[in-house]
Amino acid sequence: MASGVPEIHFYEHGLNIRRVIEQSNLQDLDQALNICDLSSLEQKFSLWQKLLPRIKPHYAVKCNDDPVVVKFLADLGTGFDCASKNELRLVLGLGVSPERIIFAHPCRPVSHLEYAKEQMVVNGTVDNEYEVYKLHKHYPNSNLIVRFKSEAKEALHFLGEKFGCNVKADAAALLLLAKALDLKVTGTSFHVGSGCSEVEAYDRAIEKAENIFKFGELIGHDMDLLDIGGGFPGTDDALFENIADAVNTSLQLRFPDERVQIIAEPGRFFVEAAYTLICKIHAKREVRNKAGKLDTLMYFINDGIYGFLACTFYTSVVVTPEVFLVGANTMPKFKSVIWGPSCDAQDRISEEQHLPNMNRGDLIVFRNMGAYAKTMAKPFNGFEVPVTLFFRAK
Ligand SMILES: Cc1ncc(COP(=O)(O)O)c(C=O)c1O
Repeated sequence: MASGVPEIHFYEHGLNIRRVIEQSNLQDLDQALNICDLSSLEQKFSLWQKLLPRIKPHYAVKCNDDPVVVKFLADLGTGFDCASKNELRLVLGLGVSPERIIFAHPCRPVSHLEYAKEQMVVNGTVDNEYEVYKLHKHYPNSNLIVRFKSEAKEALHFLGEKFGCNVKADAAALLLLAKALDLKVTGTSFHVGSGCSEVEAYDRAIEKAENIFKFGELIGHDMDLLDIGGGFPGTDDALFENIADAVNTSLQLRFPDERVQIIAEPGRFFVEAAYTLICKIHAKREVRNKAGKLDTLMYFINDGIYGFLACTFYTSVVVTPEVFLVGANTMPKFKSVIWGPSCDAQDRISEEQHLPNMNRGDLIVFRNMGAYAKTMAKPFNGFEVPVTLFFRAK
């Protein structure tokens, strides 16, 4: 690492995780190790452009705010969804122009709005009348994007209880209030829920967006931005393809006018598959029954729910531990529990699993760890968060 900027390592013929582990002296390292393959982000960007050519992705920084990741996406040409002053500062600091940013948080502190105003980030979401009045007072020249609630039937993590106005009961009133205050509503947005697995959810929401557009135009707002939010899968490309087909069909039907700019706020889609987390067993316990027979093996590893594995606690992501031992498949298996390193008994990574009998120093690997992990990881109890090594194809 030079001057605080992490080095990017180049690989040929695919990223060989085993070789990286062998070269990383993990036995001397107390922290867990993350391997981030930046080329995976590039592949995701190409896939997005191929399947959703009309939609400009605005990467949701909250999903993983590592400056290396954010810069890589900025260089590829994505836009950004920022939720706070610090996220705006990070993205703007990388040289991204304010027009490429949507300030997609419907309830923002005044100081954050003032920063957005100073930096000329004009597009921002709003979902209730108090925020409309706040914008009238603090940022009247901004573009209001009315966020409404429209949730999928199936997702890993829902947001609708907290955000989004009710389309039938509130949306028209918000548009009218903005008009009366001489504010510009320029579009509408929604979020179906993170890790959405209901393909039809997008069309249901786009239909509601069409109605909001029609009403907005009827009362004189110049509506030209539709933001279809996030929710796209990070690892299931077949599901992504089905969602993309449904979205394209829906847009063709409901938003055929190419003058309407369509954006999205994917987070998980870009980063989830890019990270592999390598953890080391640093302690072990045997739990025996009254007859003294082995019941469960307990392993304590160097990352947990306060680290990158926070995603297992805060979203319904289930991680699959992979044992990194030669011949693991054919070894006898024992009922096992994996614990994180902290003193908290909630810091439990997996329910009972059947795993080989491992020892201190053996490694456990978790794939697809790029989403909602880095941004949540904290050194709780003094256990440090994993280090990350960055790689990309030559
Ligand atoms: C407003 C907003 N946009 C985008 C995202 C990113 O969602 P995802 O990672 O599911 O694509 C989130 C996630 O919470 C969000 O709250």
